[in-house]
Amino acid sequence: MIRNTPRLRGLIQSSLSKVGARCLTAQAATALRESEPMFRYEEYADIDWNNLGFGLTRTDYMYTAKCKENESFQQGQLRDYGNVELSPAAGVLNYGQGLFEGTKAYRGENGRVFLFRPDQNAIRMQMGAERMCMRSPSVQQFVDAVKQTAFANKRWIPPPGKGSLYIRPLLIGTGPILGLSPSPEYTFLVYASPVGNYFKEGTAPLNLYVNDEFHRATRGGAGGVKSITNYAPVLQAISKAKAQGFSDVIYLDSVHKKYVEEASSCNMFLVKGNVISTPATVGTILEGITRKSIIDIARDSGYKVEERLVTVDELMEADEVFTTGTAVSIAAVGSITYNGQRKEYKTGDGLVSKDLYKTLVGIQLGKIEDKHNWVVQLD
Ligand code: COI
Repeated sequence: MIRNTPRLRGLIQSSLSKVGARCLTAQAATALRESEPMFRYEEYADIDWNNLGFGLTRTDYMYTAKCKENESFQQGQLRDYGNVELSPAAGVLNYGQGLFEGTKAYRGENGRVFLFRPDQNAIRMQMGAERMCMRSPSVQQFVDAVKQTAFANKRWIPPPGKGSLYIRPLLIGTGPILGLSPSPEYTFLVYASPVGNYFKEGTAPLNLYVNDEFHRATRGGAGGVKSITNYAPVLQAISKAKAQGFSDVIYLDSVHKKYVEEASSCNMFLVKGNVISTPATVGTILEGITRKSIIDIARDSGYKVEERLVTVDELMEADEVFTTGTAVSIAAVGSITYNGQRKEYKTGDGLVSKDLYKTLVGIQLGKIEDKHNWVVQLD
């Protein structure tokens, strides 16, 4: 495999690390051009861009930075993508001290590359780290790491219209610890993979199943943060639902078994008349970045949006239902099955979700005015 040089990595890193830097310095760009045979910088990787699902494709580089107990994170490094070595007593392996994030790099027309609100992922990771007693990188370090990872893996960003580069930041307790207490060391790691549609249905409407037996979170728990420990417990419910042909599972609140929380991989929205409603975030629901962007886009477009308790009965009586998430983007729901009843929703043209999707994607690809300053252009 052709490798880049440490000097080149250093230049790219220091160039992209400058506060607010949105492009490489001239020196780094020249070094990159001169090093072309050394650095994997062809425009596109040689893969089948027409058949990307949401599977892992091995890319070239990942970013890592470490932090010892009571210290700040060291400056991180890009390194070749590969396995990480862990102590068997690492906090993440023994006590689940780990958080993840998901954000995407999009290739617009004319080769421009855009990130969407990476600062919001950084802030969410910081809030999660506080809840899980972990140290976290600064917002600036987080955003720089995402930029560096996207830039170094640029050839893996799909052509316009074929998908995006999914960027997965992780914060894990890597220090050894036997008793139940915070890990003495943390690692911040960012890797990436080109992806297409999250669901195997592609862009076809989803068929969801309401499971009132398993709960994703409880009040006072950690359902509102992106802890790795929130995801394994839903695998059984998802597996059962998928075996019956459903796309994903919707969870209800654990106390009343009546209020809609979220699906395993995304937030829920319903449309009734001209009002859009979504479950309020009260600590049991992940505060999705796509969720809050859609609330703003919908309000900007003149829709009334309510964040409140939403009952499963209301969901079953809605005109339209859709889901949002970074991996999912916005997906229309075709049916929901609850208590043995299957409700079919409006699909096709004229959906509110289609209208919102067009605006969201237009902003993410630099085609629609970004009046909230959500988009970060990489080069
Ligand atoms: C995302 O949307 O980025 C997520 O982290 C959801 C995950 C289940 C793929």
